[in-house]
Amino acid sequence: MNPSPDDRSFVALSDGLNTRVVGCNILYYPRLSSTMDVAREQASLSAPEGTVVMADEQMAGRGRLKRSWIAPAGNIALSVLLYPPMTAIPSLIMLASLGVVQAIEAVADLKADIKWPNDILVNGKKVSGILIETDARSSAEGRAGYAIIGIGINVNLSPSDFHEIESTATSLSLESNQTPTRVEIIRRLLNELDSLYLTLRAGGSLFEGWRDRLITLGKPVRVTSTGDGFDGVAESVDRDGSLFVRRQDGLLTRVVAGDVTLRE
Ligand code: BTN
Repeated sequence: MNPSPDDRSFVALSDGLNTRVVGCNILYYPRLSSTMDVAREQASLSAPEGTVVMADEQMAGRGRLKRSWIAPAGNIALSVLLYPPMTAIPSLIMLASLGVVQAIEAVADLKADIKWPNDILVNGKKVSGILIETDARSSAEGRAGYAIIGIGINVNLSPSDFHEIESTATSLSLESNQTPTRVEIIRRLLNELDSLYLTLRAGGSLFEGWRDRLITLGKPVRVTSTGDGFDGVAESVDRDGSLFVRRQDGLLTRVVAGDVTLRE
């Protein structure tokens, strides 16, 4: 059972928000299990589109492919509840990763990259992860039941404190000489997500912008979590977000989900 949201909420955050949908309702918790679970509860209560659930500390944060997500206090863990048209669902990966990259670059003065499909790297290490969960039921109007975009950003994390991410993760405070406050990052992030979502809802495409920021394309990769896994070269991406990998035997394989690591 999760606690009630903290009534103090993020007044400073709402003050600087310039959004139409994302952040219209912000639920802030000092500590909870996972913002994904609370956002799902909110969906079942028909909370307004754009509701943001955020936590200082998550006790059971989860990542893609059934992994856990380490989110101690001092970092960013939030979920955004949307009721998008079904046609927009494949683009949510693009929306979220572009939003995070643009927010980090704007407030932390760092160059950020997207590793397919939606890991955000700074100097080759993971600084942010994105998890998207959707309700498969669709309505007569072609709307998804709901979609929840979960975003974790390492702001003040010390990867060396956590054996499992020690060699692969980084944080903004480690990479930047001018670490922005969490409120600054979240405010910018919500503004970016809102503007990208409005583009999508108006029928615009995020595909080219996302594709052009992928560092994976043209690189030798190892695809895991799909059968036995295989090596190849990441050749291109499709508009639905899937990745085409040219295997060493010449076969072109579409990767829809799974994990792709860059090979040296
Ligand atoms: C990944 O890289 O595997 C995705 C990580 C997603 C983590 C975020 S933190 C906020 C939201 N709540 C969760 O439990 N997970 C996502």
